[in-house]
Amino acid sequence: MSSRGLGVGLLGLGTVGSAVARAFADRSRRIDAAAGRPVRLVAAAVRDPQKERDAGDVPVTADPHAILDDPEIAIVIEVIGGTDPARDLELGAFESRKHVVTANKELVAKEWKALHEGARLAKRELRFEAAVAAAVPVIAGMRGLGAVRPRVLRGLLNGTTTYICSRMETGKSFDEALAEAMAAGYAEADPTNDVDGHDAAYKLSILVSLLEGRHFHPYNVRRMSLRGIAASDVSGAAARGARVRYLAVADFGEKATKARVGPEELPADSLEGQATGPTNVITLESDLVPRLVWSGPGAGGDATASAILGDVIQIAQRSA
Ligand SMILES: NC(=O)c1ccc[n+]([C@@H]2O[C@H](COP(=O)([O-])OP(=O)(O)OC[C@H]3O[C@@H](n4cnc5c(N)ncnc54)[C@H](OP(=O)(O)O)[C@@H]3O)[C@@H](O)[C@H]2O)c1
Repeated sequence: MSSRGLGVGLLGLGTVGSAVARAFADRSRRIDAAAGRPVRLVAAAVRDPQKERDAGDVPVTADPHAILDDPEIAIVIEVIGGTDPARDLELGAFESRKHVVTANKELVAKEWKALHEGARLAKRELRFEAAVAAAVPVIAGMRGLGAVRPRVLRGLLNGTTTYICSRMETGKSFDEALAEAMAAGYAEADPTNDVDGHDAAYKLSILVSLLEGRHFHPYNVRRMSLRGIAASDVSGAAARGARVRYLAVADFGEKATKARVGPEELPADSLEGQATGPTNVITLESDLVPRLVWSGPGAGGDATASAILGDVIQIAQRSA
């Protein structure tokens, strides 16, 4: 560690990265107190260094390798997203003997083995609390349940689809509700990841991998798109006292785990039925603990930054 504190480097300074940088600017005393040592943000790599950002005064570079090669940086936070170049950058960070913290669910879900092997060989930590349910400490929760035999995991893991379902309850069509989700900033320009279930499948794959202690690849998750949902499905559910929600379910059978994501009916007064926006709800049934429920904000820059900083603080507490 440098005399100026444990150094952190950011790869990406978008919605999440900027929120992390603002937190370092606004609450460094709190972060240092929790870590038990000074922790400071050294630099951030971006695609376009000329872009205007609300990200404190962190120095920016267009060269992510400058972060990996910086001897002042001990922890690399990857919030670029996707697999390329994020995969090579995270593996490169391990080769440079840095710890890695990420919110990148796609990369963790698809490259579980390579990333864990990279961390193991480098004797560094890979942490990804922010990759599932953002601020909700569900990864820590799953890690603490190593002794239980899971039966069923059920979750609302994607806020965009929850928002669309709840808007359809007001009589909107799927297309109208999707347009509203985009206007409200919930859905991205290309909504495929959310409405076709890739995002929920990545998150479910990570949770199952943690519970089973081995990689459960997202291609093992059966995906049903939300695009097929009609206004009559939603009004029919309402007539039965139910609501349609985009649910992620893992059934841990005796022989094999079956995982699926897709629209399903739930009681209107259930926690899932009551959720209308980015609120995530995760329920685990197991042999030793009949029912555990986690709930809270599963998206947004600040909520995601909270989980990332929690990981950074824990690494700072543990590493020499
Ligand atoms: N947004 C959320 O609420 C949320 C919640 C949980 C998890 N996540 C995950 O967090 C990650 C980041 O999401 P986000 O919403 O913050 O994305 P974003 O707003 O699109 O930001 C991506 C950042 O990466 C930078 N970037 C892209 N390609 C790069 C490259 N080749 N080298 C260096 N920098 C590059 C971009 O630079 P420029 O700014 O210069 O374009 C931008 O700053 C994703 O994995 C996402 O799934 C997001």
